[in-house]
Amino acid sequence: MARRVLIAACVAAAAAFAVGCGSSGIKLSEDDPDHAGAVLFAERCGSCHTFDAAGTQGSATDVTDREIEDGPSFDDRPESVEDVLFAIQNGGFSGAIMPANIATGREARQIAEFIAKYAGPQAPSPPG
Ligand code: HEC
Repeated sequence: MARRVLIAACVAAAAAFAVGCGSSGIKLSEDDPDHAGAVLFAERCGSCHTFDAAGTQGSATDVTDREIEDGPSFDDRPESVEDVLFAIQNGGFSGAIMPANIATGREARQIAEFIAKYAGPQAPSPPG
């Protein structure tokens, strides 16, 4: 039960963030093929995952303010398209904390391609 409340609070925070900040933190130009994936990421994933390419800071940076729903930072962790699609469908790799199916179909793929391209310390910086 406590977990459901946490997830609801997190999703609400994500919604508030999307309304308040729009897509201003996104590093990709609007005509970039991965821009749509970046917008979706910022709206639906950014409250729990840090990712510089989308301008989000959801992951814990300090152990003292770490929260159970904080997910890995994609600045540090490289991901493949297949792994991201798996995580979206199953709710992370463990299925314990991240809600499943926050995005589906074409939207899920757009997010996955955006993450796979820019995640990890070796990834290129977004062009725009
Ligand atoms: C409520 C917070 C929350 C939201 C929202 C969220 N995640 Fe997560 N995510 C997590 C947590 C916590 C983990 C780590 C635990 C696990 O893997 O089950 C995780 C793990 C992952 C992983 C596995 C990373 C790895 O290398 O271990 C991927 C990929 C991922 N999330 C992608 C996404 C995408 C894409 C979205 C948006 C569609 C999203 N997440 C939304 C909390 C969240």
